Amino acid sequence: MTPQSTTAKPRVAVLGLGPMGQALAGALLAAGHPTAVWNRTPEKAAALVARGATRAATPAAAARDASLVLGCLLDYHAFGTVLGDWPATTLVNLTTGRPDEARAMADRAHAAGIDYLEGAILSPTAMIGTPAATILYCGPEPTFDANRSTLAALGGTPSYLGADFGIAVAYDLALLDLFATAVSGVAHAFALASAEGIPPRVFAGYATGIGAWLPSMVTGFAEQLTAGEFPGDRSTITSASAGISHIIDAADRHGLDTGVLRAAQAVIDRAVMAGHGDDGLARLSQILAPATPALPSH
Ligand SMILES: NC(=O)c1ccc[n+]([C@@H]2O[C@H](COP(=O)([O-])OP(=O)(O)OC[C@H]3O[C@@H](n4cnc5c(N)ncnc54)[C@H](OP(=O)(O)O)[C@@H]3O)[C@@H](O)[C@H]2O)c1
Repeated sequence: MTPQSTTAKPRVAVLGLGPMGQALAGALLAAGHPTAVWNRTPEKAAALVARGATRAATPAAAARDASLVLGCLLDYHAFGTVLGDWPATTLVNLTTGRPDEARAMADRAHAAGIDYLEGAILSPTAMIGTPAATILYCGPEPTFDANRSTLAALGGTPSYLGADFGIAVAYDLALLDLFATAVSGVAHAFALASAEGIPPRVFAGYATGIGAWLPSMVTGFAEQLTAGEFPGDRSTITSASAGISHIIDAADRHGLDTGVLRAAQAVIDRAVMAGHGDDGLARLSQILAPATPALPSH
């Protein structure tokens, strides 16, 4: 992509140059923002410096002339080490963590006189700077509005979720929960298929069909959880109980690890024991909670 004119674009800084930090800084450079970069391991700035970025010796030096600073590090502990004696600026934390960590970091930033936004990146590095990128933000709405056009350089349409500093990362964690357990399911399915002599490429042709069916299951869960009603007219928890028993028995015969499957079976068994065997699978989301919470109605 050809860099655009840098004259009218606000100065920015990126702290943390792992794969994601490099992608963020690259998108800002491509959009024509004068960009300072800092990383604990300075060598990782080399490719960005070759594209026009300025390498800063410290996080505070990177932030000095920037109207917007992006932080993208391994975790909140690492992020906490870069917050220091800064000039007044606006900081957007795009590091993944927990909602309570996000709220505590907002308190620290405010105590240091920094205007603060939290963000959560839902897209891989290759999508950053493209229309396909999805990044969620939260914190003071005026701060988000004032920086919306700069944040748009990171790709997609910046999504604002509200004033609660923990809400962006809460969405992120719930979606990562879905991803992490799905990865575990994909890995186990390939292990069982291979143990039964099914070639991975042949199996993939059928497994992708299940992937295509997942979106309607997700929207079906949302409908049932919102209504608080769990009709089992399409499939029931009792049926799922029988199904997962067959899978575990077959996996056991091949000596495969069944830990993840048994954990899933335990939740299904709890639902049946509680009298929900005839319900649809969305009921399992309630069974996982220690007490049934009131769900938001929207
Ligand atoms: N990569 C993705 O596709 C992706 C997608 C969505 C969200 N994210 C999130 O983006 C964040 C960054 O991810 P990443 O892929 O760029 O790589 P990462 O491995 O999660 O983070 C690497 C960055 O953290 C720095 N770091 C680690 N420990 C540090 C410490 N104690 N003090 C200072 N700096 C420290 C590293 O510095 P050094 O270079 O010096 O080690 C490097 O800049 C993470 O929270 C991740 O969950 C990533």
